[in-house]
Amino acid sequence: MTSRNPQGSAGRVTLEHVALTLGDGPQAFTAVRDVNMTIEAGEFVCILGPSGCGKSTLLAALAGHVATSAGQATLDGKRIDGPHPERGMVFQQHTLLPWRKTLDNVAFGLKMQGIGKRERHRQARALLERVGLGAFADRYPAQLSGGMQQRAEIARAMLIAPRVLLMDEPFGALDAQTRAMMQALLLDVWSERKPTVVFVTHDIDEALFLADRILVMSASPGTVLEDLQVPFARPRERGETRDLVTEPEFIALKRRCLALLRHQPIASPAADHATASVRFNRSVQTAS
Ligand SMILES: Nc1ncnc2c1ncn2[C@@H]1O[C@H](COP(=O)(O)OP(=O)(O)OP(=O)(O)O)[C@@H](O)[C@H]1O
Ligand SMILES: [Mg+2]
Repeated sequence: MTSRNPQGSAGRVTLEHVALTLGDGPQAFTAVRDVNMTIEAGEFVCILGPSGCGKSTLLAALAGHVATSAGQATLDGKRIDGPHPERGMVFQQHTLLPWRKTLDNVAFGLKMQGIGKRERHRQARALLERVGLGAFADRYPAQLSGGMQQRAEIARAMLIAPRVLLMDEPFGALDAQTRAMMQALLLDVWSERKPTVVFVTHDIDEALFLADRILVMSASPGTVLEDLQVPFARPRERGETRDLVTEPEFIALKRRCLALLRHQPIASPAADHATASVRFNRSVQTAS
């Protein structure tokens, strides 16, 4: 696999007193307020928070899709003021183009960079092999399962070797087994290329398994409530003989996250309230 974002390369993200307001006029809504964080180059940070607290909005600001209404977001000291391939986004649902074969979808970012067909196909095939999709390069997205589509989506994001990988509940729709496989795969690719990763999840176990650090957000309008170091050595084991999730330190940190999430009210707008409660309660139950 090529390594165009080797360890030690840049990717430091900062947010200083960031507020994000969505919509205009009487519909305007402050989704996050006074968010401050520094994420070092190559760090893997997970964001946890109740439904509606502004996690996706925060990622959208880092992607450059939403402008800050106060404060500023920077990458390596440069203000983020629009989308750029140096910041790759992976959503919960794939964004593969239905009319392109998997190989061409994965290679698409390289095409945009002006890289010739032969070379971009060579790189895309190598990465597809890596995510277990070598035999499916010529299929269209609709001919892949959900887990396969998501693997192709991640391969697509990784191939452009972004300095920052923004992931919004990327494994949320996957079954437990595929999810565990994808987490391991993501950690493999991350340890090789060391992009800075900002990963949003509702799943405390997932955050504790993946992250160097977990930022827990308050309910809407969201702000950073707590910044937790995840001290477990890597690679983190999750097997039959030894399983990180049964270690006392893991359980203690999980309890801390649960307590922080439990003591928060759900996002206030009435229309959101019912679904937010259901979702939040479900995520807390599955984590306990
Ligand atoms: N276009 C918009 N105009 C006004 N408010 C919006 C708009 N889009 C989202 N919001 C509000 O912003 C808040 C934050 O939304 P966001 O999607 O960032 O939350 P989230 O933390 O990602 O939630 P979830 O965990 O459910 O995905 C929500 O209360 C939502 O209702
Ligand atoms: Mg969201």
